[in-house]
Amino acid sequence: MERKTLRTIGVVGSGQMGRGIAQVAAQSGFDVLLHDQDTTALDRARTFIDSSLKRLVEKGKLPERVRAETLARIRAAAEPEAFSAADFVIEAVSENLAIKTRVFAALDAACRAGVILASNTSSLSITKLASATRRPDRVIGMHFMNPVPVMELVEIVAGQSTSPGTLESARDLAKALGRTPVTAQDYPGFISNRVLMPMINEAIFALYEGVGGRDDIDAVLRLGMRHPMGPLALADFIGLDTCLAILEILHQGFGDPKYRPCPLLRRMVDAGQLGRKSGRGFYEYGPEGTPR
Ligand code: 3HC
Repeated sequence: MERKTLRTIGVVGSGQMGRGIAQVAAQSGFDVLLHDQDTTALDRARTFIDSSLKRLVEKGKLPERVRAETLARIRAAAEPEAFSAADFVIEAVSENLAIKTRVFAALDAACRAGVILASNTSSLSITKLASATRRPDRVIGMHFMNPVPVMELVEIVAGQSTSPGTLESARDLAKALGRTPVTAQDYPGFISNRVLMPMINEAIFALYEGVGGRDDIDAVLRLGMRHPMGPLALADFIGLDTCLAILEILHQGFGDPKYRPCPLLRRMVDAGQLGRKSGRGFYEYGPEGTPR
């Protein structure tokens, strides 16, 4: 399907990533169908998007009229069948292969032939997700970064059967959403997490082995390498459970011990210390996820 025919973007999953993608798509002029099996999550997503747009209005970056129009372009879809009206779908449900496979099979049944199904997965195999559909040539990864409205990159991931036309359409859509696409092949962690997660894991090993304290490790990367956040603060921001899950995929996928997750990371996840979302990780956070 060519870019000029795209009008309605379906987004599945209204968590942090899904609602960010929905917001960016609506701000870029697309109609958005936002689906979540949990309808209270859909309400929460609308409230989040509304307050995110209001902040842009307060900063003078978005006229009030455009805020209202943007919000009106996002329609909640309680049933996946509504996706028969979608011209391109981006899935952003939990990072779990069984759940995503079910979603892809349901999307394949609900969407018109020819519609591209993209996954926002951070590390699961696009090739496996494509195998759950009868259109593997039209399945691709579109890995957005958190926070979606701020980050420029979309990592476009081509699976074993992804067609060149699908790749081109996904890259075009990323550009139409005001992002910069970068293409990666479908191997564990793609480019982004293949490089990022070993750095985060190594920072956790440095803490575990007493090479440096938490603040020192983060200061080295912030002040010495100009990273916007230190690796331990970034791990909290991403979620320690997510970091562990991605490291497990790298470890299993390559069978290389260099990706083994640090025992301290595993112990913190076992303790429910998941970072910002649980109020405690390497740092402590207030109710809004603000650092204490
Ligand atoms: N939604 C929308 N806008 C947001 C936002 C959010 N959740 N969080 C911050 N912003 C905006 C702010 O409004 C502000 O906008 P302005 O410049 O127009 O005023 C701007 O971003 C900067 O925010 P702040 O001044 O509040 O704070 P910082 O300057 O500390 O920036 C940050 C916050 C953008 C999160 C910055 O620290 C950063 O870039 N951190 C690194 C984030 C990163 O690496 N993300 C990728 C994670 S890896 C990933 O997603 C892949 C996955 O597979 C693991």
